[in-house]
Amino acid sequence: MRFHGTMWVNPAGHLEIGRCDTVELARVFETPLYVLDEELFRENCRAYQRVFGTRGGRVIYAGKAGLNLAICRILAEEDVGLDVVSGGELYTAVQGRFPMSRVYFHGNNKTPAELRMALEAGIHRIVVDNLDELELLGRLTAEHGAEADILLRLSPGIEAHTHEYIRTGQIDSKFGLVIPGGQALEGVRRSLETDGVRLRGLHCHIGSQIFELEPYAEAARVLLGFARQAREETGWTIEELDLGGGLGIYCSAGDDPPSVESLAETIFGAVAEAAGRHGLPVPEVAVEPGRSIAGPAGTTLYTVGTIKQIPEVPRTYVAVDGGMGDNPRPALYGARYEACLANKADREPDTTVSLAGRCCESGDMLIWDARIPAVKGGDIVAVSCTGAYTYSMSGNYNRFPRPAMVLVRDGQAELIVRRESYADLIRNDIVPARSRRRMG
Ligand code: LLP
Repeated sequence: MRFHGTMWVNPAGHLEIGRCDTVELARVFETPLYVLDEELFRENCRAYQRVFGTRGGRVIYAGKAGLNLAICRILAEEDVGLDVVSGGELYTAVQGRFPMSRVYFHGNNKTPAELRMALEAGIHRIVVDNLDELELLGRLTAEHGAEADILLRLSPGIEAHTHEYIRTGQIDSKFGLVIPGGQALEGVRRSLETDGVRLRGLHCHIGSQIFELEPYAEAARVLLGFARQAREETGWTIEELDLGGGLGIYCSAGDDPPSVESLAETIFGAVAEAAGRHGLPVPEVAVEPGRSIAGPAGTTLYTVGTIKQIPEVPRTYVAVDGGMGDNPRPALYGARYEACLANKADREPDTTVSLAGRCCESGDMLIWDARIPAVKGGDIVAVSCTGAYTYSMSGNYNRFPRPAMVLVRDGQAELIVRRESYADLIRNDIVPARSRRRMG
C-alpha cells in the first residue's frame, strides 16, 4: 500500500496517521472506522488554493465527496468554497456555520423547497441545470422579492475516459443544457429576461476520477466558444467559468493522476487562449474538486473476522467487519483500493488474499487479490484513499449501523461522526396503530 499524507510506521510496527496509532484508534473507537487525516485534507485544499486561488480562480469543494460539520469548519478556515447538491448538504453547511457567500448549489432537479432554502440562506451561486429550473427560480425570486446570481450548467459534449456511471460531460446526459439545437442559447435568453436572476457565467462538469487534462482544455474551449455565440446573439458577456471537478487520485497500482499544478496550467492556458481568440474578457475561473481533496485523506480501518481458504482455486477470502455499507464503490464501480495490516505495517506484504465485506451479497468484495502480510483473525486492515464518496454514499443495507469517523492530527483523535447505534436504525420506524393494538 502506498502511504499518503502523515502515514508512517511507528516503532511498534503499527500504521500511524496524524501521529495516532491506528491500532489504538481501532481499539478505542472500534471498527469499522473512518480516519480522516486533517493535515492532508487541509494540504489538499491549500494545493488548490496555491495554484487557482492565487491566480484569481475559485476553489469550491464538492460536498458530495464527504461533508459533515467538522469538514465545514475546516473548509471555512481554508477559505475554499463549497458546492452543495441538496437541501441536506445545504443544511449541513448552514449548521456548520460555513459562510453562505461561498456556497454554490448544483443539481438537476432541485425542489422548490430547496431553492427557497437557498434563496433565504443567500448563497453565492445557483447553478441552473435546465429550463424548467430557470422558470421555477424566476417564480420563486418574484415571490420572495429575492435576487439570485446564477451560472448555467451546459453539457459540453465531451467524453472523458472514466467509468460510465461517473461520466457526465457527454450530450446524452441528464445534466445541463445542450449547445447544439439552441437549448443553451435559449437558457441565456430566458435568464436575461427573468427578473430577479442575474446570469454570471457558465458551468460544466465532465466527469470524475479523470486522469487526462485535455478534456478540461476542450471543455473550456467549448464553453467559451458558446459564450462568444451568446454574446453575439444576446449581448451578454460571460464573467465566470466554472469547469467542475473530476481530477483523479491514486487509489491503486496503475493510477497516475496529473498534478493540481498541471490542471491549473491547462485550464488557465486554455481559458486565456480561447477568451483571446473569441474577443472575450478572461472570465473568473472556478473548479470544484471533491475526490482530490478528500480521497487521499481518508483511511478505513476494519477488523479481520473469518478466513476461508479454497485451495482448489486457489483463493483466500478474508472477511472484515465492514464492506459495501461503508464503501459501496468497489461493488458499484469496480473501484480498486489498496490495503495493509495496521498492526503488522512493518512486515512484508507477501500474501495474496481477497478482502470480503460482510453484507449478504457475493459482490460485497472490498479488494480482490490484495497483497498484505500473513493475516489472522483480529488483525486490523487499513484501506487507504477512502476519504471521498464512502461515508457520503454509505447505507444501512442488512441493517449494519454506519461507522464512526475520527479526525486525526498531531497525536490527537477527535470523534467527528458518531457510530450509529442499533437504536438509530429503528429511530424512524413506526409500528402501525392496528398492529400495536394486536400486540397489546
Ligand atoms: N462538481 C460537480 C457538478 C459534480 O457533479 C461533481 C461530482 C464534482 C464537482 C466533484 O467531482 P470530483 O472532483 O469529486 O471528481 N460517486 C462517484 C463520483 C460521482 C461524482 C459526481 N459528481 C464515485 O464514487 O466515484
